[in-house]
Amino acid sequence: MNTEVAIIGAGPAGLLLSQLLNRAGVSTVVLERQTRAHVLARIRAGILEWSTVELLRAAGVDARMEREGIPHDGCVLASGDTQLRIDFRALTGRQVMVYGQTEVTSDLYEAQDAMGTEVLHGVSDIEITDLDAARSVLHFTHEGARRRLSCLFVAGCDGFHGVSRRTIPADRRREFERVYPFGWLGVLSETPPVHHELIYSNASRGFALASQRSETRSRYYVQVPLTDKAEDWSDEAFWDELRRRLPGEVAARLVTGPSIEKSIAPLRSFVSEPMRWGNLFLAGDAAHIVPPTGAKGLNLAASDVHYLHRALIDAVRGDRAGIDSYSERALRRVWKAMRFSWATTTMMHRFEGEDSFAEAMRRATLDHLGASETAQKDFAENYTGLPF
Ligand code: FAD
Ligand code: PHB
Repeated sequence: MNTEVAIIGAGPAGLLLSQLLNRAGVSTVVLERQTRAHVLARIRAGILEWSTVELLRAAGVDARMEREGIPHDGCVLASGDTQLRIDFRALTGRQVMVYGQTEVTSDLYEAQDAMGTEVLHGVSDIEITDLDAARSVLHFTHEGARRRLSCLFVAGCDGFHGVSRRTIPADRRREFERVYPFGWLGVLSETPPVHHELIYSNASRGFALASQRSETRSRYYVQVPLTDKAEDWSDEAFWDELRRRLPGEVAARLVTGPSIEKSIAPLRSFVSEPMRWGNLFLAGDAAHIVPPTGAKGLNLAASDVHYLHRALIDAVRGDRAGIDSYSERALRRVWKAMRFSWATTTMMHRFEGEDSFAEAMRRATLDHLGASETAQKDFAENYTGLPF
């Protein structure tokens, strides 16, 4: 097999990159370890920055998002019973869009089908070779046979546990990591959202988030110890805990129902530098992970793809300036989102065993945010997304 760009991973990064490249006449083959049904069943992010919305428009995958996505003008930061609304629109003129990662992925798959691009599922044992030659080669197993794919460039869009990042020699990689001592227990339910905007709540019992997917579907999270197991949380126990962590008047309005999905995600900040090794380019979770508090994971995957698709289109046509500066450009934006996600996580969560100084700092940060329009503007600018 031959192609111009081989893409490993059919998550949002891989599919969006494939979509943008094919629209520009650059050929791709996507290799995905899981089945398509598995990829589409993963419940993950829910908030799109406006730049991500615009990139999906440029990729021609916006029709359903325009109909079903819900633009939000602000969000609420709660501390106990105190609620602070951050007015994105008034502060920055920008909005965000509520549209689930599952929907984005499903729209991208449909668009790929319509273009007739090659997406192979159930691929295993990928080996990447010849990254410093004119053409690189991927060896992999598919439908019981060992196969070979020759390409000009490899895009490593295979998430945190993928093979791409580990193909870069360990002594040429620099990793930065912060693991948080808690996770988020998330529940999806066919119930109307408790509020028309998202509520991030810092309560004495720990963090909670009230999010949504539509006017009839809610997504809620509570901070839990890493030792907890999702199966040990009954729906009733979850709703009780959520109610205790939302401001009283909000909790009183909460409509509960059976959970459709329940899972625990650990929280981590992670960056691996560089994002390029010869003909290999990393994008999305393959190169970096953020804690979900700032809603940045999927949006960072999109900004990487923004830089990378342009760089690869130029490179296929003979201009290599974009691929030479890709890692540096992508990382500059990644680090700013890292900082925001870490700061928001620190501001909104209880850290077990934290001292009175740490607690006082969190209170002062929230107090300052409530009193200063400048601080609110900074939050809104970061939340709605820094420019590409
Ligand atoms: P992924 O979505 O991880 O896609 C990578 C793809 O590569 C997968 O399909 C995988 O099967 C495939 N793959 C892996 N290894 C191989 C291999 N060896 N060979 C071939 N294919 C391979 N972000 C938010 O902003 N808000 C959230 O609420 C949120 N919740 C999350 C919950 C969970 C449980 C997780 C794991 C992530 C969450 N994120 C959230 C982060 C967000 O979903 C990710 O940032 C986003 O999915 C990144 O997209 P990606 O395409 O880079 O990686
Ligand atoms: C979600 O809806 O899943 C969601 C929204 C905002 C976040 C994290 C997750 O910050």
